[in-house]
Amino acid sequence: MEPTQSLIPPLLSLFLFFNIYPSAQYPSPTTVSGDRHREALRRFEALKASRVRLSDSPPSPSPSPFPSPPPPGSNGPRVYLPTSYGADPTGKLDSTDALLAAITDATNGHSEGSLIAGIANLGGAQLYLQGGNYLISRPLRFPAAGVGNFVIHGGTIRASDSFPPDGYLIDLSTTNGNDKTTPSSSYNYEFITFRDLLLDSNYHGGGISVINSLRTGIDNCYISHFTTNGILVQAGHETYVRNSFIGQRITAGGDKGERNFTGTGINLQGNDNSITDVVVFSAAIGIMVSGQANIISGVHCYNKATGFGGTGIYLKLAGLTQTRVLNSYMDYTSIVAEDPVHLHISGTFFLGDANVVLKSVNGVVNGVNIVDNIFSGNNNGVEIVQLDQSNGNNFRKVDQVVVDRNAVVGMKLKSTVAKKIVEANGTSLMADFNDVLLFPNLIKHVQYSLSFEGDTFPSYVLRNVSDNRVVIQTSEAVPANLYVTVDQSIYN
Ligand SMILES: *[C@@H]1O[C@H](CO)[C@@H](O)[C@H](O)[C@H]1NC(C)=O
Ligand SMILES: *[C@@H]1O[C@H](CO)[C@@H](O)[C@H](O)[C@H]1NC(C)=O
Ligand SMILES: *[C@@H]1O[C@H](CO)[C@@H](O)[C@H](O)[C@H]1NC(C)=O
Repeated sequence: MEPTQSLIPPLLSLFLFFNIYPSAQYPSPTTVSGDRHREALRRFEALKASRVRLSDSPPSPSPSPFPSPPPPGSNGPRVYLPTSYGADPTGKLDSTDALLAAITDATNGHSEGSLIAGIANLGGAQLYLQGGNYLISRPLRFPAAGVGNFVIHGGTIRASDSFPPDGYLIDLSTTNGNDKTTPSSSYNYEFITFRDLLLDSNYHGGGISVINSLRTGIDNCYISHFTTNGILVQAGHETYVRNSFIGQRITAGGDKGERNFTGTGINLQGNDNSITDVVVFSAAIGIMVSGQANIISGVHCYNKATGFGGTGIYLKLAGLTQTRVLNSYMDYTSIVAEDPVHLHISGTFFLGDANVVLKSVNGVVNGVNIVDNIFSGNNNGVEIVQLDQSNGNNFRKVDQVVVDRNAVVGMKLKSTVAKKIVEANGTSLMADFNDVLLFPNLIKHVQYSLSFEGDTFPSYVLRNVSDNRVVIQTSEAVPANLYVTVDQSIYN
């Protein structure tokens, strides 16, 4: 090829050949000698033939910049391609060994210093799946702990029919199973990123397990057909799950098999993690949390309706919840919190009788805000916040619980702050708050005023606040308006 043409991008040069070159631009026979002309013509025909062959053949991946794996120890660019290791990108043949070999090379590759002590910095090495679909029969587990700054991205990984039912497609535990300690770091891995992946567990096990790792990113992943957990996070901290779609069955709602959904979308058994902008579209439990200081934001759960026995978000760490659920969408799926201590739920839309259930374990509820949400139900009398004291331990330790300023249509409003106006005529005036107050027999603070008609000046006194009823006694029976505010949320 002439040097000038080699600088032209392939598509543009094709265009030049078929549209310009054959007519005006091709060197005229009169300006070149016969031999040179024949040679030029021959080269032109050969090149044209190769272009035609190229355009006739089915599209094939453009030549990779790394046809063979980066040499071990090289500190040049480090993009590892499964196909360089013999993986089958069509998803027909088992690619487990090839993918594991690529991961082994990547994690044994050149590193530059360390991240947290004991975690070698792989400098952003990548396992790039090139849009391929890879079938695996064993979990993809790193050969040894102690590496970080590594990315797996850009393709599909699917479990074969022989994949272990308790396995995870990608497993950030250590191969020796000793997850709590590694020789030089208290964490297994740091800053490992999984991005732009479709993970299909084929009803054999789970999607990604992140064990005792630090600063793990799961971004734009689609995780389906799990039987255990879509994502499991155990110990470690700061696993950030962002912009992802998680569902056992691939459905867009109203699925005939919804009652049969099983598994958990995201299971957080660790602290300081974050779930943002994630949809859980099928699973028995959308998000299960049994660690502290996790944040859930912008999540849409329509995994399995609470009416069919599902739960949107289950907060299981009784007595030490420390969870914030913000700006989310609970779509026929409820939030259940066991003995919530430090729980904040706001800006969330509850649709289809979805509500918040406070479930007693030891009867403790402390520092809970359920405020500024909207609840939309189907007139079945479902309370927006409900106490589950079915274990016989009623909530006895109630402190700083604020349920207020929620907008409610078609459900029963419950609150810890309430106001009433009572018109009465008699010496005993009563305002009954049992229909609205969340906790039975708990008024911590009352404010009231009375207005009387006519020109009398009766005396009056607050007599009783038991059983969520406020009783005022007056010295004379005259028509009166009683204005009362009660509060269950006062700090003890
Ligand atoms: C749900 O599971 C039951 C029991 O396994 C089965 O009989 C039924 O056909 C399933 N329903 C659907 C819609 O998959
Ligand atoms: C209020 O009660 C008194 C005494 O029982 C009665 O005389 C009076 O008519 C009542 N007023 C109203 C407005 O019901
Ligand atoms: C307050 O009212 C309750 C019934 O609601 C009653 O059992 C209790 O004795 C009353 N207390 C007083 C001081 O009158």
